Amino acid sequence: MLRIDYNNMLDASIGKQGIAKSEIKNDAKRISVAFDRVIKNRGTGWQEWTELPYQTEADLNKLTAELKHVRENAESFVVLGIGGSALGPLSVFNALLHLRHNELPKAARKAPKYYVEDNIDPERMEALLDVVDLKTAYFNVITKSGETSETLAQFLILYDKLKRALGETEAKKRIIVTTTIGKGTLYNIAQTEGFKTYGVGAGVGGRFSVFSNVGLVPFACMGIDIVALLAGAKKMAENSNIADINKNAALMTAYLQVNAFEDGKNISVMMPYADSLKFMADFYGQLWGESLGKAVDIDGKEVFAGQTPVKALGVTDQHSQIQLYTEGPFDKVVTFITVDKFRQNSPIANDKSIDACDFLKGQSLNVLLDAELVATRFALLKAKRANFTVALAEVNTQSIGALLMYFMYQTAFAGALLNVDTYNQPGVEEGKKATFAMLGRKGYEAKLKEVQAVKVDSSLIINV
Ligand code: PA5
Repeated sequence: MLRIDYNNMLDASIGKQGIAKSEIKNDAKRISVAFDRVIKNRGTGWQEWTELPYQTEADLNKLTAELKHVRENAESFVVLGIGGSALGPLSVFNALLHLRHNELPKAARKAPKYYVEDNIDPERMEALLDVVDLKTAYFNVITKSGETSETLAQFLILYDKLKRALGETEAKKRIIVTTTIGKGTLYNIAQTEGFKTYGVGAGVGGRFSVFSNVGLVPFACMGIDIVALLAGAKKMAENSNIADINKNAALMTAYLQVNAFEDGKNISVMMPYADSLKFMADFYGQLWGESLGKAVDIDGKEVFAGQTPVKALGVTDQHSQIQLYTEGPFDKVVTFITVDKFRQNSPIANDKSIDACDFLKGQSLNVLLDAELVATRFALLKAKRANFTVALAEVNTQSIGALLMYFMYQTAFAGALLNVDTYNQPGVEEGKKATFAMLGRKGYEAKLKEVQAVKVDSSLIINV
């Protein structure tokens, strides 16, 4: 399903920029402590996500059946959520549904049009309202905390419009809530309004929630086979539970990334070579950035850890970023995500009337893309740049489940190797609280004073 090739991370390929096999051996103790921290705590605390692939087939089928009416009746299915409550649905929809899903005729789509609304740009909200017919739309409001301002604001706007368009009774049927059961503002609203509500486990953090109802509900609404998705995740979970680093893909690449980071490679470029995997770079970026970017380690020591995730797309970004990756500072690790066999073949016409482009004529976009991937990897290798490849045999429901699980385990192992708290996000929480304060939410008066106390020197502002 997945093949991880880390040749180009080692000194045998990239000289002193690479890692020696002996380093991996010498770090055996550190690696096994990190492995134990993740694996021995499986299913406990914030590691409830590790158990999500093991939901029973009967439960998954029940969920799929329960949401059949959305799949069959909705013209549009809209996810309202942000961060971990949006990137799972977005990356999986983009990987597994037709790349122009919304533009297909209804009969060819076999599922509603989808929209993942993860921003509060007022123009985007109004644009959504221009294209979505509320009379035939369903909304999945997803927030684990039930407190996120962006998602609550979107909900308030759309529920009000739904009630106006459909009346209260019908409007209530169009809202599906996914949140923590028993607590939070959205849960309380859902109880009062009588919305169908799905829970998220207390020990499942936002960015690790794709296999909880945060992902499963939208996937079922869109007709994605959640049994197959979790089968792929399970396969990767099994691999991640192998103690031998040489056989454990997530542990090995976590170690190599952390080693590279400690050697000054503090940028992690994620570069899928497939449009269907474009948003996997976003999914990874959130996991990697929010989980590892920490000021202190778990012993309270200042560490300022974390690689900065950068998104790129092959081949598009060969024409914008590869120059920097091959000749700029030695501060990056590039991860290629590749596909052995695309779901489509796109032949390039062998047009005899055009007396040029012989090297292209009669080939296919598949061959061209593959050649460009190999060529780019060669250029990086020649320039001694650290990179590794995660190859999917093909993009399908199982391989996507495995890829997402790989990212999550890789992040968990990297957090353990760095000795940071992988599951908190104090930097994000600070911004959330300051937002509440600025909007005058009760209980945040002191925070408001703190925000307002920030001094701005107007002589340092340039008006043009
Ligand atoms: O990973 C996280 O915990 C965050 O990125 C959250 O997913 C994000 O802030 C949204 O939170 P919530 O699902 O509570 O609305």
